[in-house]
Amino acid sequence: MAQDIEHIQTAHGDRAPSCTIVIFGAGGDLTKRLLMPALYNLARTGLLPTEFALIGVDRLEMSDEAFRAHVEESVRAFAADKHYAQTLDETNLSRLLASMTYLSADFGAAASYVALGNKIESVKASHGVGDNVMFYLAVGARFFGGIADQLGQAGLVTETNDYWRRVVVEKPFGHDLASAQALNTQLRNSLAERQIYRMDHFLGKETVQNIMLMRFANGIFEPLWNRDHIDHVQITVAETVGVERRAAFYETTGAMRDMVPNHVFQLLALTAMESPASFDADAVRNEKTKVLHSVHRVNPATDCVRGQYASGQRDGAPLLGYQQEDGVSPGSKTETYVAMKLGIDNWRWAGVPFYLRTGKAMSKRQSEIMIQFKRPPFSLFRNTATEALTPNGLVIKLQPDEGAMLTFGAKIPGPKIEIGQVHMDFHYKDYFQNAPSTGYETLIYDCMIGDATLFQRSDSVMAGWDIVRPMQEFWANDPQAPLASYAAGSDGPAEADDLLGNSQRAWRTLS
Ligand code: BG6
Repeated sequence: MAQDIEHIQTAHGDRAPSCTIVIFGAGGDLTKRLLMPALYNLARTGLLPTEFALIGVDRLEMSDEAFRAHVEESVRAFAADKHYAQTLDETNLSRLLASMTYLSADFGAAASYVALGNKIESVKASHGVGDNVMFYLAVGARFFGGIADQLGQAGLVTETNDYWRRVVVEKPFGHDLASAQALNTQLRNSLAERQIYRMDHFLGKETVQNIMLMRFANGIFEPLWNRDHIDHVQITVAETVGVERRAAFYETTGAMRDMVPNHVFQLLALTAMESPASFDADAVRNEKTKVLHSVHRVNPATDCVRGQYASGQRDGAPLLGYQQEDGVSPGSKTETYVAMKLGIDNWRWAGVPFYLRTGKAMSKRQSEIMIQFKRPPFSLFRNTATEALTPNGLVIKLQPDEGAMLTFGAKIPGPKIEIGQVHMDFHYKDYFQNAPSTGYETLIYDCMIGDATLFQRSDSVMAGWDIVRPMQEFWANDPQAPLASYAAGSDGPAEADDLLGNSQRAWRTLS
């Protein structure tokens, strides 16, 4: 049965309510590569409000016409990419472009927010939109607090019962627990928690949302989803890309801050959470946060390995080491790989290790969650030691080969009793039509309709930073803290194997 993005309509109802979206950083890369194609996809599928306006805000001087031309160019360019619409819907593209105006602004100047307030009023008249406004901060993290202060002082985020004002904040939300708390306090000076939508784009991925569906909309998985049946869990987010042109950002960020307290912990929380009482935003977020609060304190010296890629190769082609990349300082100690072992102290998971790893310049782009079940308790079959029986595994494949795979043993045909491993393999593409999507459609739409389920609440952000804090402190304060090396194009450093600490367990090969 083929489906496409229109399924959102049945899930959420129809078009989002009339609103204006203000994008700070309208000239930037995120806006160009992801937000504009996502808005176009929403327009194309009939989910964008009929009365809609978009105000692009950035430092560059630009006319409305030049801004529209810039957006049109990027939507057309990305339309050729497989993630976006294949054939442009000219009517909806023209309507989207017609909704756009531009404001050149200094993010730190009060006068710019007076001008923005005037612009919001003027698009109300010209585009027939109401007073609902979403402010999307697609800018560097250092601007978040200041922009929120200015919006507050200009009275632009004051709500009434009749309309809403919401602020979307891109990641990273702080760079450690203290800075995240400080940023949160600053945002809360002007905004109520319900007005803050903290973005983690992994939650916009269909396969990530499907983790909850798979667990709670089926009868067969949940009864096995606990310490009685599960030996351990592996969560992998492996990327083939290196640091690319982002050295300035990455040198001070590293794999831990970039990926772990946000994307990887979202996957952890969705895998380990209890069933929420409903799919209401707070019910889901309560359960996810509870999991993070139950993670027991990590010993950074024994439960975590960080690594940095050295030169290597993939498919015979040479790959640079991290320190040879443009903009990276020689002798840099920035980690490009992190693996860790976590335990969750609750009745469901006590004693079940969760192994997490993420890295750049690895052999394959592969994000997945593997549930490794326990071995059968004894060996019934002659000539087959229990140890030789490969335990069952369920692999939830998040990207790029989206689907799920269950492995189990089956009799190899023949007179002898011999067991072979077989797979039941589900691929999304075999069942559902792949909707052109950047992953931001759902998140933008959900913000417009006020559904915060897929956005991070502050307690969950803080809980994530609190888990990684001992590791961050160890690396920052102990000059002896090891930094393992791995060849670019490999599966990561050998030291990470020791985390599994048991000959019966091994990282799943990236394949
Ligand atoms: C971003 C990180 O949040 O996620 C990047 O900053 C990373 O370093 C990216 O490459 C991965 O996202 P995706 O959607 O490409 O898997």
